[in-house]
Amino acid sequence: MSGSLQVAIRAANAADLPAILEIYNYYVVHSTCTYQIEPDTEEKRARWFAKRGSAHPVTVAEADGTIVAWASLSPWNPREGYARTVEASIYVRHDLLRRGIGSALLSDLIERAQALGHHAILGGVCTTQTASIALQERFGFRQAGYLREAGFKFGRWLDVAIMELVL
Ligand SMILES: CC(C)(COP(=O)(O)OP(=O)(O)OC[C@H]1O[C@@H](n2cnc3c(N)ncnc32)[C@H](O)[C@@H]1OP(=O)(O)O)[C@@H](O)C(=O)NCCC(=O)NCCS
Repeated sequence: MSGSLQVAIRAANAADLPAILEIYNYYVVHSTCTYQIEPDTEEKRARWFAKRGSAHPVTVAEADGTIVAWASLSPWNPREGYARTVEASIYVRHDLLRRGIGSALLSDLIERAQALGHHAILGGVCTTQTASIALQERFGFRQAGYLREAGFKFGRWLDVAIMELVL
């Protein structure tokens, strides 16, 4: 399979959580794109979803009625002065990469962040993650910071780039 895949993006609901979990847990086990090491459980994901307010949406991308990716805007820091700074996450099903889905979700996230009155979108990206960095740079994110050996996964220390888009 190749070529871009048309997706419909909508706000997630609780019924989407098993699909969100399955897409995410693949990366927990196989990738440095998340520093989580143990797969998420349904209970943990349900708690994560239930405590989100309207300023911090979760979205899903569907193709032919199947969820193929998800994204979220999360608080960057709980202190009040950071209220309009959010962290973006995007996870595309591992067998559907490079088909435009990540771009569609990031474009939608940026529009949602603007509509919600957010001011900056940040992301901490493992520097081994060239896809993530390239996608974000394509949308105007720039490296705002660099953390040496801030994470440890798969037996080695990993550097983190802090990417930022000021809206
Ligand atoms: C990062 C991620 C979301 C990209 O999703 P995607 O659907 O594959 O991205 P797209 O097809 O929209 O690609 C858009 C652009 O990003 C860049 N890009 C994507 N994957 C790339 C790769 N493996 N290497 C280099 N550049 C890449 C390219 O510029 C690409 O445009 P092109 O295909 O026309 O050259 C996906 O790889 C993913 O889910 N990775 C694991 C989770 C993750 O790292 N999330 C953080 C993202 S903020």
